[in-house]
Amino acid sequence: MDDVARKLFSGPIAFLKSAPGLQFLPDPAVEEIAFAGRSNVGKSSLLNKLTNRRDLARTSNTPGRTQELNFFDVGEPLRFRLVDMPGYGFAKAPKDVARKWRYLVNDYLRGRQVLKRALVLVDSRHGLKEIDHEVMKMLDDAAVSYHIVLTKADKIKTSELRDVEQRTADEGKKHPAAHPEIITTSSETGLGIDRLRRAVVEAIG
Ligand code: GTP
Ligand code: MG
Repeated sequence: MDDVARKLFSGPIAFLKSAPGLQFLPDPAVEEIAFAGRSNVGKSSLLNKLTNRRDLARTSNTPGRTQELNFFDVGEPLRFRLVDMPGYGFAKAPKDVARKWRYLVNDYLRGRQVLKRALVLVDSRHGLKEIDHEVMKMLDDAAVSYHIVLTKADKIKTSELRDVEQRTADEGKKHPAAHPEIITTSSETGLGIDRLRRAVVEAIG
């Protein structure tokens, strides 16, 4: 399985398109895996790390970098798509912009037939926030299964990391569509990346 995953992610992967609204989504030709999470949590960085490409998805220190749904084709022939999403809960975004992103993200997550699995990214320094629970509840209701992925694990001490993993696993149990295993990652050190690749390949089947 590791080999299958590594081969897939080191093969052809290409940016397909950016969708600023639901009317711009690509044809639902293959299954999709979406990266969701609060602004600045590290969605675009993790997508780059997962695919071994440094600048496939645009990253930034400033929250609100990713403003549209960005689709990436994986495999040749096409196997599935990765979707980098705008972050939610970005307090400094103008209200109408924040609302637009929220509708875009929510409508996509709730209504996309080919969405096979979501990855809900959570900053390991902060743990699950109210807004994460809201999004997870929405995914539960839409029966979209998801993995909770802790990010930026390089930023905190191992003991704190174990605490947040435990807490996140406990809170995750309240969500029927959440996978019981918490995947801890760092786009900086590569921690958990192979595990995450396997989770994606397992989801695609
Ligand atoms: P939005 O698109 O604005 O919602 O942000 P995002 O979730 O896509 O975050 P992005 O990948 O742009 O990363 C935000 C910042 O965190 C950047 O400065 C990254 O370099 C940094 N970052 C992301 N992942 C990691 C990580 O694993 N470790 C460390 N130390 N920094 C990280
Ligand atoms: Mg981004």
